[in-house]
Amino acid sequence: MRLLVTGGAGFIGTNFVHQTVREHPDVKVTVLDALTYAGDQASLAPVADRISFVQGDVADADLVDRLVADCDVVVHFAAESHNDNSLANPWPFVQTNVVGTFTLLEAVRRHGTRYHHISTDEVYGDLELDDPAKFTPQRPYNPSSPYSATKASSDLLVRAWVRSFGVQATISNCSNNYGPYQHVEKFIPRQITNMVDGVRPKLYGTGQNVRDWIHVEDHNAAVWAIIDRGRIGETYLIGADGEQSNKDVVELILELMGEPRDAYDLVSDRPGHDLRYAIDSTKLRDELGWQPRFPGFRDGLAATIEWYRQNAAWWRPQKDATEAKYAQLGR
Ligand code: NAD
Ligand code: DAU
Repeated sequence: MRLLVTGGAGFIGTNFVHQTVREHPDVKVTVLDALTYAGDQASLAPVADRISFVQGDVADADLVDRLVADCDVVVHFAAESHNDNSLANPWPFVQTNVVGTFTLLEAVRRHGTRYHHISTDEVYGDLELDDPAKFTPQRPYNPSSPYSATKASSDLLVRAWVRSFGVQATISNCSNNYGPYQHVEKFIPRQITNMVDGVRPKLYGTGQNVRDWIHVEDHNAAVWAIIDRGRIGETYLIGADGEQSNKDVVELILELMGEPRDAYDLVSDRPGHDLRYAIDSTKLRDELGWQPRFPGFRDGLAATIEWYRQNAAWWRPQKDATEAKYAQLGR
């Protein structure tokens, strides 16, 4: 199989490429990545001799057409992915997430190529803290932020290209990922690296917001299950029953890093901040036999903390610029 992985130098894409090289050695991987502030080719160094790397934009129609013509399957991870950035400047989100996805869809339509679209649970909006419900594939879309609105738009393009043009596509909507190689702008790496630097963790608002955490390797194993066995035109929700309030996560990071559990600060809230996400992954489990294989959140978080401690050379170059952005937002 010749596999084109867009966004393969970002957090989830990098882990996907590493996992693919390890577990699917017969697959020929080409990565297409623009190397924005969020992409780092160094993340692919351990597998550099096993893959091809092309620096370029998913909205570059000529380049995308050439690469799609030469592959059997496209997995589309590339995106602008950070909610806070989308509130500060939505335009790159529209360009990459909507126009970029459109560009790929037109190419896979021309070449009859199998396409898997990586999306987020945020397309469904949020749930009340005390609501027993979880997101299911039947739930209407109701995105809150510019980021999630552009991801919802891209999902709807995929659905339309399946129905109107017979494109061979599947979609997955996953909950919050954690693990190695995640950019220091995101919640868990930001707190770990702050603490390495002697800075107290920062919780938005009251810290009551809930996210449904999944280890990135479990997400990527589910993506492989969908590539291998997913039904064309279907949407699969990926989640590992990992609901935690942000406050609980910060307290656990503090404990695991040997600090008092209350040594954090509350900072101003994110505008429009989604309250709670929760995934019902029954369809993925029943239909495709996927199950999370990573041990519990506490062990996964401890391993992630250790990875950031051991790999300061990877995240250090991004840290000051990231914190300068947050300082401007008062967070
Ligand atoms: P990331 O920001 O870490 O990585 C994004 C990658 O895409 C980077 O390597 C960047 O250089 C590349 N990129 C950005 N614009 C591009 C363009 N125009 N052309 C080519 N490459 C471009 O993101 P991530 O957290 O790894 O997320 C990957 C995908 O998974 C996204 O589609 C995101 O919406 C989705 N997702 C993320 C999570 C999560 O918790 N992080 C959860 C569910 C879904
Ligand atoms: O649900 C999937 C989504 O998860 C993905 O689609 C996004 O790409 C990914 O970034 C993530 O979105 P969130 O907005 O949930 O992730 P973030 O890491 O930005 O924040 C997680 C929670 O932590 C959220 O409630 C905001 C809060 N937070 C974040 C930061 C950076 C804090 O309390 N303090 C912080 O310093």
